[in-house]
Amino acid sequence: MIQYDIMKTIVAATKNKHKIVEIEAILKDFGMHIITRDEAGVPGDFEVEENGTTFEENSYLKASQIMKLCGEITIADDSGLVVDCLQGAPGVYSARFAAFPGIWPEEGDPGDDSDDGENNRKLQRLIEDIPYEERTARFVSVITMVFPDGSSIVAEGEVEGHLLTEERGSCGFGYDPMFVPEGYDRTFGELSGEIKNRISHRAKALAALRKKLDEIG
Ligand code: IMP
Repeated sequence: MIQYDIMKTIVAATKNKHKIVEIEAILKDFGMHIITRDEAGVPGDFEVEENGTTFEENSYLKASQIMKLCGEITIADDSGLVVDCLQGAPGVYSARFAAFPGIWPEEGDPGDDSDDGENNRKLQRLIEDIPYEERTARFVSVITMVFPDGSSIVAEGEVEGHLLTEERGSCGFGYDPMFVPEGYDRTFGELSGEIKNRISHRAKALAALRKKLDEIG
């Protein structure tokens, strides 16, 4: 049985500062406090090899490996953008879309690493001839919480939307400036963090996780 009352401090497995800020803001409302992997004593150079083929596999890999190193309750998010007209790409390869030679390889893809700007430009090139109505996509987040006894809870969230072929706004990170969530006429790059943290895939996954914790705790 999970002792919900001791779940005040949770280690975030991610090094992505944007994700930590979002997870922190959402979990604060649930009375949970996030600490970084650095604060939990995880060596800075330790990298989790994300070699899973699904969000769920990678989410579990990250949470379980960091939990083994720090011995504390650990939470991990694996997330990405699923684009219908690209048969689900970039999906689990969202962070390294422009770098990954196996996914829609293009002349000029940078080596084995890529940043948000390169990923966005690659996505723009691939969808520029597709009509807006067909540029449907969703962000997916799978959150896994792993406990020191090895048990785990997993929860998923999605947000549907359309993609622009240009970037708008400077809030958020990743593909946010290209993504217009359903029911809005502005991108996640233009919408406030407060709105994103209410409707995003990560917010939904964390709310689902919280529900599961309430049910079992
Ligand atoms: P991960 O850190 O391996 O889970 O990769 C996540 C990648 O998916 C990020 O680097 C972004 O490219 C993309 N992504 C996930 N969530 C978001 C979001 O909330 N906004 C924009 N891009 C996101």
